Amino acid sequence: MNILLLGSGGREHAIAASIAKSTQCDKLYIAPGNAGTTACGTNVDLKADDFKGIGKFVLDNDIKMVVVGPEAPLVGGIADYFADDEHLKSVAVIGPMAKGAQLEGSKDFAKQFMQRHEIPTAAYKTFTKETLKEGQKFLSTLKAPYVLKADGLAAGKGVLIIDNLKEAKQALKEMLAEAKFGDASSRVVIEQYLSGIELSVFVLTDGKHYKILPSAKDYKRIGEGDTGLNTGGMGSVSPVGFADKVFMQKVEHEIVMPTVKGLQKEGINYKGFIFLGLMAVRGDDGALNPYVIEYNVRMGDPETESVFPRIKSDIVELFQACWDGTLNQCTLDIDERVAACVMLTAEGYPESYRKGDVISGLDEVKESLVFHAGTKLNKVNDLTTNGGRVLCVTTLSDSLPSALLKSLQAAENIKWKGRYYRHDIGQDLLKMSIEQ
Ligand code: AMP
Ligand code: GLY
Repeated sequence: MNILLLGSGGREHAIAASIAKSTQCDKLYIAPGNAGTTACGTNVDLKADDFKGIGKFVLDNDIKMVVVGPEAPLVGGIADYFADDEHLKSVAVIGPMAKGAQLEGSKDFAKQFMQRHEIPTAAYKTFTKETLKEGQKFLSTLKAPYVLKADGLAAGKGVLIIDNLKEAKQALKEMLAEAKFGDASSRVVIEQYLSGIELSVFVLTDGKHYKILPSAKDYKRIGEGDTGLNTGGMGSVSPVGFADKVFMQKVEHEIVMPTVKGLQKEGINYKGFIFLGLMAVRGDDGALNPYVIEYNVRMGDPETESVFPRIKSDIVELFQACWDGTLNQCTLDIDERVAACVMLTAEGYPESYRKGDVISGLDEVKESLVFHAGTKLNKVNDLTTNGGRVLCVTTLSDSLPSALLKSLQAAENIKWKGRYYRHDIGQDLLKMSIEQ
């Protein structure tokens, strides 16, 4: 069948590479894609919010499946647009309808959902402009650090963690009364601070059944030792050593099962990925317990770049089963090896960064996979930088140290003016495994 994948990042290149390998895929289109996705299929110049244009392209090119990479079109209702159209409704859309996408689109919706279904998460309260004073009083009853979250989508920037009560009260005022994050902060969730280690777990669900994909950890800060500004993600590792069988059973029973059942109970027909952003918190008995920090309704980036290369099953068969409601009849085969991904970024990122620098050294990468994020071919066909996160190197190996070493060696060989990467991806996990 012909397939259309929406998105343009490293996540989409990794998904495209898996789709292109499928025996079920005839033609793959990526909209808009990047220089790397041209190795997997044909890039199409369509914007993710142009539902009409996407619908027309799907009909004109006999496309039977649309895989949605980023959250914005899902929150904006692309799956609903297809479901409501006589000619498009039979096309398999991998990604939830707008109602399900509220799990990511509204923090307040997600928190209420977790409360209704007794899913472990930080205690919270939601405030609006009208209840600003109550919100500030509520902050006084909490201990530092204070966690303030804009309710709506804020490009990953809507969460503030503040040590000082006075500053937290001021920030709440800016969010609610001065629209610091625009409409996204017209409601603000204030929640209990959870201390622990973060990890990501991904679920593919057909609305009734589910498959749990390998765990992963991403590294959000720009600087080594987890310092400096937040980024889209500077690297990832899969699996996460401490997420052992006992921990993953807790994730399944306490989080995945009630989430899928909860969606079903509430009549939300959810077909697609659920990304669980988890905090592993150590209990009084010393055991690690999972709490949901956030839901996303898509795969993570750069977690996909370490999770997808480990999926041995035919991904299009899994997607089709997701659409047909027969995921229970599929097996999920996972490569036992460890994947380590190192992100290479442009000078200046995550603040304003350079673009258009010529990239060299890709030919020398032999043992690693290279996924493109912000890349573009220039007029004379040179590969150039075209984003903050530019390329991501992933290596599969028998151990985490060797996967990391190979990814770092490959990263060192890829060059452009001002290219930067973190050398310490995965080091915290190695340290933990030595201490255990
Ligand atoms: P979110 O967008 O909800 O994932 O939040 C962004 C980041 O803020 C998370 O990746 C965590 O590092 C941190 N964070 C969010 N909520 C909490 C919390 N309740 N306790 C501690 N850290 C948090
Ligand atoms: N890596 C985190 C995210 O994709 O939101």
